Amino acid sequence: MTHPVVLITGAAQGIGAACARAFSDAGWVIAAIDVPGTDWTASQQLAPGMLCLTGDVANASDWGHWLDQTHARYGRIDALINNAGIAGPICDFLTYPDDAYDRVMAVNARGVFLGTKYTAARMVAYGTAGAIVNVASNAGLAGSPRIIGYATSKHAVIGITKSAAKALATRNVRVNAICPAPTDTAMVRTLEQSAPPEQVRAALTAGTPMGRYGDPSEIAAAALFLCSAAASFITGAALPVDGGSVA
Ligand SMILES: NC(=O)c1ccc[n+]([C@@H]2O[C@H](COP(=O)([O-])OP(=O)(O)OC[C@H]3O[C@@H](n4cnc5c(N)ncnc54)[C@H](O)[C@@H]3O)[C@@H](O)[C@H]2O)c1
Repeated sequence: MTHPVVLITGAAQGIGAACARAFSDAGWVIAAIDVPGTDWTASQQLAPGMLCLTGDVANASDWGHWLDQTHARYGRIDALINNAGIAGPICDFLTYPDDAYDRVMAVNARGVFLGTKYTAARMVAYGTAGAIVNVASNAGLAGSPRIIGYATSKHAVIGITKSAAKALATRNVRVNAICPAPTDTAMVRTLEQSAPPEQVRAALTAGTPMGRYGDPSEIAAAALFLCSAAASFITGAALPVDGGSVA
């Protein structure tokens, strides 16, 4: 039996590692991508046998290398989860550093643009159906005054998703975004350091009607659904996975 193949960026921890586990449990094989020097031990336990690749999602030549390596190992690519992302600084808009803005946009927006473009090109060349899921945020749906770089980059992710979905709709590649509310990962722990952690946690969960952080597995389940045949008529969506935050 041929197993479907998924590339997952930022797969060493958090939502990316949860995606690796969810796809592996569903019978997919995985090409996992993360930064150089990554310790893969935790995510390899969740998804045994995955191909581990390193580099920077903002670097176009890394995408060429990863796609070649994945093709060499598995001979096909069925899905991509553009999950890697960074939070960047948390501060007042008027003092937000220019270079930090550029780096957040490079990783979160340019990285998703490059991944979508280069992976979709391979999918079209294979002539098989493809699915791409871009991990945006509920910060991509409304303004966030203290994380301007992050919020801007996540609005861009939704713009890339909708535009690529229309561009690829007749070429058998679906492109969707998911918009998680605060989810229990290292990223949210970093946000918690911006003030007394209990205060930040209370503020973040107050914006979520279900009154808690998301679990990474709940975000991964939505990504898996969007890559499945059950989502065959869904493209260009920006799906909130957020305990009711934007309801
Ligand atoms: N945790 C949340 O509250 C939350 C909410 C909404 C959206 N998101 C989004 O979900 C995605 C995953 O977040 P997470 O919470 O699991 O974060 P995380 O910090 O736990 O994991 C992110 C992973 O991406 C990798 N990464 C960072 N920059 C990279 C680069 N340039 N190239 C390759 N890999 C890189 C990191 O090394 C890390 O393993 C991000 O896009 C994030 O913006 C997170």
